[in-house]
Amino acid sequence: MNDKWDAVKYTNDFSFVHKYGNDLLQLIDIKKDMSVLDLGCGNGTLTKKMSDMGLNAIGLDSSEDLLEIAHELYPNIKFIKADATDFTLETKMDAVFSNAVFHWIVKRKQSKMLDCVYKSLNNGGQFVFEFGGYGNNALIHAALQKEFQARKLFYKLPFYFPTIGEYSQLLEKAGFMIVYATLFERKTELSGKDGLADWIKMFIKTPFEKVDDKIKNEIICSTVERLSKKLYLDNKWYADYVRIRFKAIKE
Ligand code: BEZ
Repeated sequence: MNDKWDAVKYTNDFSFVHKYGNDLLQLIDIKKDMSVLDLGCGNGTLTKKMSDMGLNAIGLDSSEDLLEIAHELYPNIKFIKADATDFTLETKMDAVFSNAVFHWIVKRKQSKMLDCVYKSLNNGGQFVFEFGGYGNNALIHAALQKEFQARKLFYKLPFYFPTIGEYSQLLEKAGFMIVYATLFERKTELSGKDGLADWIKMFIKTPFEKVDDKIKNEIICSTVERLSKKLYLDNKWYADYVRIRFKAIKE
């Protein structure tokens, strides 16, 4: 997410990200006066939801633009600007929650992030999170890769999508006890007639950094065409999401 336009468009057109987060919230075991950190809170939609559930919720994000929207929408909630892989809180939390964030963090920085989470939790604290798991958007990335290759360009997957086994090892190494883990497919409807092209433009940035705009548009058009049989169903675009979801406890 790198400019204000993206932050506003993300808030308006990609609200399914938060809608699906509601169901993840059910994994939090709610206790009286409990505090929770929403790690990578974005525009604060789920931070507010947790606050409405009676939790003392605060949000943390590295995007100035998304935090500006969060502050405007929810002025009574505390939001902190910080990097998820390098933060310290003034007081420890009873829970850390995160939705659709960790796939943005490169593999070599995941342990740093997990150490920050561990240090920010009270003993017995809950860590509940979901992000893109192994195989996430595999059809979309394979199609993009083919279109890059056809133009002698290199497509490097810009996300981290681990298996349960791989991520469990990182969690246990950081000191967490895993109490729940699952990986599941969730085909997700995209909004609008250009749903898939809009999704690619919003989320796939780094592979296009050195590609000129004309070629970029050609790649996106051909990718969309290539995927229409599999991801355009009953006049609607879908993305082939796979989620990895965990609940872990600080021992
Ligand atoms: C996800 O939520 O899985 C996701 C969203 C955008 C880009 C990559 C992954």
